[in-house]
Amino acid sequence: MKRLICTILLLWGTSLAWMYAQEAKPLQLLPPQTEIGKPLMQTLKLRQTARTFDTKALPMQELSNLLWAGFGVNRAESGKRTAPSAMNWQEIDIYVALPEALYLYDAKANTLRPIVSKDLREATGRQPFVKDAPVTFVYVADAARMRNASEEDKTLYSAADAGFIAQNVYLYCASQGFAVVVRGMVDRPSLAKEMKLRPEQRILLAQTVGYPKP
Ligand SMILES: Cc1cc2nc3c(=O)[nH]c(=O)nc-3n(C[C@H](O)[C@H](O)[C@H](O)COP(=O)(O)O)c2cc1C
Repeated sequence: MKRLICTILLLWGTSLAWMYAQEAKPLQLLPPQTEIGKPLMQTLKLRQTARTFDTKALPMQELSNLLWAGFGVNRAESGKRTAPSAMNWQEIDIYVALPEALYLYDAKANTLRPIVSKDLREATGRQPFVKDAPVTFVYVADAARMRNASEEDKTLYSAADAGFIAQNVYLYCASQGFAVVVRGMVDRPSLAKEMKLRPEQRILLAQTVGYPKP
């Protein structure tokens, strides 16, 4: 009996340790490389959507540059960002689906905060490439930050704000030769559940990035 209890306790302790080992840790992003990139007019000429991706992971520097280009802080003194936002509400959050976990981009701290220790890439879309492409951004509007706005304005402004961010990401990808697609085809209720969102958080768009398939 004593041996059985010891075995059960040992197994329980091991599985607990395993569970904790699976918890994702915060990721420190790198400072953005603001001196790189093609000239704007050449970049605009190259901007396009792609739907085939290599599975190779993006280096941390590229992920950091992408997030900063999308919606990083470009004026530290005011905390304003690389994309405009209605009333400076900054209501769009970028969630980052990577193979090991779902993270939330904290632009001020330049970090990724773990939210769900699970691969949610497949849950971000209905197209077959989404599960294997290395990274998907999910743009989520927090309506609670849009103070005094009517429901109509919340919908309109948050959609526009997410569009600016997505275009910044498109342009960075065009400049650096990455494949990218912005996606409206998302099963929002089921993804919101997986992401553990609050009722006032609304999923607007997803955007998948990776190396082009050779
Ligand atoms: C709001 C929005 C939603 C989109 N949703 C999807 C989508 O769910 N899946 C997809 O493959 N492409 C999607 N696209 C990409 C468009 O199909 C693409 O931009 C269009 O075909 C023009 O191609 P281009 O981006 O290369 O100019 C979306 C684009 C926008 C702006």
